[in-house]
Amino acid sequence: MKMQALPSEKGTFNLTNYEDTNQSFNWKDVEGTFSWAKTGLVNMAYEAIDRHVDNGKADQIALYYSDAKRDESYTFKQLKEQSNKAANVLKSVGVEKGDRVFIFMPRSPELYFAFLGTLKVGAIVGPLFEAFMEGAVRDRLEDSEAKVLVTTPALLERVPVADLPHLETVFIVDDEFTEQGSYLDFNKRLNEASPEFDIEWVDREDGLILHYTSGSTGKPKGVLHVHNAMIQHYQTAKWVLDLKEDDIYWCTADPGWVTGTSYGIFGPWLAGATNVIRGGRFSPHDWYETLERYQVTVWYSAPTAFRMLMSAGDQVVKKYNLSSLRHILSVGEPLNPEVIKWGKNVFNLRIHDTWWMTETGAQMICNYPSMEIRPGSMGKPIPGVEAAIIDDQGNVLPPNRMGNLALKVGWPSMMRAVWNNKPKYDSYFRLEGWYVSGDSAYMDEDGYFWFQGRIDDVIMSAGERVGPFEVESKLVEHPAVAEAGVIGKPDPVRGEIIKAFIALRDGYEVTAELEEEIRLFVKKGLAAHAAPREIEFRAKLPKTRSGKIMRRVLKAWELDLPTGDLSTMED
Ligand code: WTA
Repeated sequence: MKMQALPSEKGTFNLTNYEDTNQSFNWKDVEGTFSWAKTGLVNMAYEAIDRHVDNGKADQIALYYSDAKRDESYTFKQLKEQSNKAANVLKSVGVEKGDRVFIFMPRSPELYFAFLGTLKVGAIVGPLFEAFMEGAVRDRLEDSEAKVLVTTPALLERVPVADLPHLETVFIVDDEFTEQGSYLDFNKRLNEASPEFDIEWVDREDGLILHYTSGSTGKPKGVLHVHNAMIQHYQTAKWVLDLKEDDIYWCTADPGWVTGTSYGIFGPWLAGATNVIRGGRFSPHDWYETLERYQVTVWYSAPTAFRMLMSAGDQVVKKYNLSSLRHILSVGEPLNPEVIKWGKNVFNLRIHDTWWMTETGAQMICNYPSMEIRPGSMGKPIPGVEAAIIDDQGNVLPPNRMGNLALKVGWPSMMRAVWNNKPKYDSYFRLEGWYVSGDSAYMDEDGYFWFQGRIDDVIMSAGERVGPFEVESKLVEHPAVAEAGVIGKPDPVRGEIIKAFIALRDGYEVTAELEEEIRLFVKKGLAAHAAPREIEFRAKLPKTRSGKIMRRVLKAWELDLPTGDLSTMED
């Protein structure tokens, strides 16, 4: 199946001819847009917000925010002032360039003020997803040595403050909070702060953001991005999101995940678009209403969400007038051709798949509005990026051969470090000149890339990346659990669900209560999205002689596949 642009998508696209642009484009062409072209220094928050105030867009709405209780909007000028105030508040407690400021709270305007304020003082922002529980919060604040945290009273209960010696100040965002000691009232101080602030101009290679993400082994890793990433955020917001200054854009991802920052904050604002943020949880009615109410023109979401909307039925979508929509995109997991077909029926638009990772910082392989789509394919590398399928020795494979999806190093938004973990960082670049993604794929004769799976054991559940090791480690902390192995099990809606295989300690018996207790234990210790939906008890789990649980074998059991080479397995 091939899909040409639909009549409703026609128009002037920012990227009109992929092939020509791919030939001629150079990242240097983009640099002139930003401050460093003039001064040698830069600041993401200036480029994303204040620059538009200086360029005659002070009164354009930058942010529409709503949730069940609030309904607000902010112009670029107002956002500039609010983030200046936040920067003053942070500076008043001694936050300096390079410090880590973490933000752990549900979406709200204050989250965005604090986020941008952190960047204005030159500090590194660390957004944490609100569903994280104590263990997950501890790992991240400990590893990053965060100096300041911005949170809410409810979430503060999950912050083990006493065990975090580097944490100097905790700002509480709440209307009825009384300050004590190092617990300060963010809103009160924000209201009292000056709306003027002298931005800390930084080098383009200075730290911008730390996103913790999961791998197949070890604790989550802090992926560090730098201000230079703006080149790619900006350019992809133009080419891939196809944003123009009059667009009303909605990215459904939370800023705790990379999509919610690269394309929920940086990309759209660098491009000068109006950004819609909807708080609260997913519901089909709420989402369609958001699209209708703000007259959203460009919408970026995820396959799981599209599948949930699809299963809510077409009667629901028909109740809304969604004629403002002109461009839809997806990221996070494979986008099924059925979903693209459904999208065409209900929106009369194609859904454009995009592939990238926390580590790549920005979109890498995409479908463009001006291009023919092959449903099921992730598309083609953005101009300025070279992707290839390589074998384990680093040889480039010919079309239609499956192998490692790799990227030629040197794109602007590439991560610059894994926090405190050089060996881990280096392991991505083990094949000379390449970044090895951990995904397997093939490329067809025409240069379209097709996702095949993860090479490692990382689980993508409802678009959220979960490390099996983290879940296993939490499981074995439970007194009844002797051994645990965790895999992703294919699921029609969530992509994958988390399935745990567990061997109990002597003296424990399998009961429904125990199963539920173990599930809750992970939910309370890590996060709801990390808790196993399915648990299977086994007397023993397959292990290597060195004692490592063989997830590959568990997966083969689960999917009724051949178990492969078992020579390293203990008897
Ligand atoms: C998967 C999310 C198939 C992939 C921005 C990748 C995808 C991991 C796609 C990164 C896609 C992302 N098709 N798989 N279009 N996009 N993935 O770091 O396995 O949360 O390596 O970044 O998600 O997940 P992360």
